[in-house]
Amino acid sequence: MNKETVLVTGATGNVGREVVAALQAFHPEADIRVAVRSPKELDQKTSDYESVYLDFQDPDSFTKAVAGCTSVFLLRPPAISNTKDTLNRFIGCARKSGVRRIVFLSVAGAADNRWVPHHAVEQELKNGPEDWVILRPGFFAQNLESAYREDIVQDDRLYVPAGNGRVAFVDVRDIGEVAAKVLTSPNKHAGMIYTLTGPESYTFYEVADLLSQYLNRSIIYKPASIPGYMFHLLFTKKLGFMQSIVQTILHVGLRFGQAEKVDPMLGRLLSHTPNNIEHYIRDRTEVWEE
Ligand SMILES: NC(=O)c1ccc[n+]([C@@H]2O[C@H](COP(=O)([O-])OP(=O)(O)OC[C@H]3O[C@@H](n4cnc5c(N)ncnc54)[C@H](OP(=O)(O)O)[C@@H]3O)[C@@H](O)[C@H]2O)c1
Repeated sequence: MNKETVLVTGATGNVGREVVAALQAFHPEADIRVAVRSPKELDQKTSDYESVYLDFQDPDSFTKAVAGCTSVFLLRPPAISNTKDTLNRFIGCARKSGVRRIVFLSVAGAADNRWVPHHAVEQELKNGPEDWVILRPGFFAQNLESAYREDIVQDDRLYVPAGNGRVAFVDVRDIGEVAAKVLTSPNKHAGMIYTLTGPESYTFYEVADLLSQYLNRSIIYKPASIPGYMFHLLFTKKLGFMQSIVQTILHVGLRFGQAEKVDPMLGRLLSHTPNNIEHYIRDRTEVWEE
């Protein structure tokens, strides 16, 4: 069997980091190449993997990044909405260079939602040979340590316009494990689409109770109104206007059960039961210490 060389894009972010960690832990036979944008990251040489420069906005970086790779983990960075000249062009280049497997991190619901950028990337993959696997995760548990961390640490509160909606939070560590498995199994999973959710769904009230329990201080969930949340994102978080609108729409969708449904697929693909939000909070308490 030929040795796999796996290129991981988005390797410095939430998901990419976990894909690299899972490749190292469970598939040490594979060579890992991490794609990074900044020269600082590029200089961080480790004996565990090689780094290569890749910027989806710079097509000249594509060929060298994929040269000699057998599979690619493809992540759409949140700031990229024009996928035609970036990710889709990159897919063409990867295919020309002989990459045999592209595992794309999409998002749950991307099939019916033309406005999410992932939709066009999925189409590009499906229009070519069946060398792809699409992972469609639900809402990340890790949003609690990225987007919501400041509110939890500074104000002891969760502030989102999700009402009483339930969410089947998925632990990004589990997504990393599935991605690593699929990336290193070139003869399985081709043309498959996997929806990945956590094993149970929770309201934000229940999440706040779990945070209170494990952090030993009171964390309150305050359901935000739509204008209140827009104001919060624009003026407290200082997000751009479009990003604030997109985030508000996504969170309001939670009110209507958009991320509530539990899909059993993650449990079937993993070698263990998927982590629920309680497991995740228990493991990560240090990130919300004041
Ligand atoms: N949050 C959720 O609940 C959720 C749920 C389902 C799906 N998703 C999807 O997950 C993806 C986000 O994943 P994430 O949380 O891991 O993102 P993230 O933590 O924001 O990381 C983004 C990664 O992309 C890299 N990057 C940014 N711009 C780039 C460019 N022009 N060229 C190449 N690389 C670039 C970043 O590198 P630098 O270090 O250089 O910036 C970083 O490694 C999105 O597509 C999102 O829609 C999110």
